[in-house]
Amino acid sequence: MKSLLSVCDVKNEVKEILDLANEFKHGSIKNKPLDGKSLAMIFQKSSTRTRVSFEVGMYELGGNALFLSDNDLQMGRGEPISDTAKVLSRYVDGIMIRATEHKDLVEFEKIATVPIINGLSNLEHPCQTLADMQTVKEHKGDFDGKFVYVGDGNNVCNSLLLISACLGMDIAVACPKTYQPNEKIMKKAKTIAKESDSNVTITDNVELAVKDADVVYTDVWVSMGNEKEQGKRKKALGKYQVNSKLMKLACDDAIFMHCLPAIRGEEVTADVIDGENSVIIDQAENRLHSQKSVLYHLLK
Ligand code: CP
Ligand code: NVA
Repeated sequence: MKSLLSVCDVKNEVKEILDLANEFKHGSIKNKPLDGKSLAMIFQKSSTRTRVSFEVGMYELGGNALFLSDNDLQMGRGEPISDTAKVLSRYVDGIMIRATEHKDLVEFEKIATVPIINGLSNLEHPCQTLADMQTVKEHKGDFDGKFVYVGDGNNVCNSLLLISACLGMDIAVACPKTYQPNEKIMKKAKTIAKESDSNVTITDNVELAVKDADVVYTDVWVSMGNEKEQGKRKKALGKYQVNSKLMKLACDDAIFMHCLPAIRGEEVTADVIDGENSVIIDQAENRLHSQKSVLYHLLK
């Protein structure tokens, strides 16, 4: 039994997962490899892309997905994670969880006897970044360019650091000193980057980071769960907005990426996110193909 809680869990299989995702996208796999399998999907936070792509993905692979909102589960009323993990493991072949606390995901995984998939936690969003790297490959052909993440050093940023290092792609993160990525993840990404002969840079100098970038990526300033810090965050992150002036520092053919949902006028201006270099809808589409690859990889 193997789970996907962090990009590190598939460190040596990232390329294989992306290749398979590409095969799914281009329709070369026609059979129903997950016929008769079921996936439970627990959501402690809202979702559009993750829910729909996992649900449709399971259906297209011949399986079944169950949407379980935390409000409807007994877990939401205090039933222990351990009982929930043991019971669900008797019914289904895998469990995807969008968790408020990453530590709950870890506890769930220790007890469950089926694979657990992180559908976003406060620490990482590995499934998102698999789709992101599928999109980079499609638009750039390889991972030789410079990937730049601008803004809050959040869950998406953490997983991007790890996956770039796994693929040997140089990554620079431009963020305020108060909103840097997770310290342990930065260290881990630097260790992996040494092995893959790539660079990890963390800076508060956004102009320097974006200079000659091939990919410019941002995410919301206020992630789910951080709503109370809204004012403080908007103030600290104000100069990290991705706008056309900033994009001019990147390569002419640089692509703009965002995991969505986005707030136009905050982390990105409408002209950039809706502009011709934006690949956000391809990214969202690729959630479906990469999700199918992850499901095949873990549940087959
Ligand atoms: N990018 C992403 O995970 O979107 P949802 O929150 O809509 O699932
Ligand atoms: N960082 C965002 C990503 C949403 C897909 C959040 O956690 O809310």
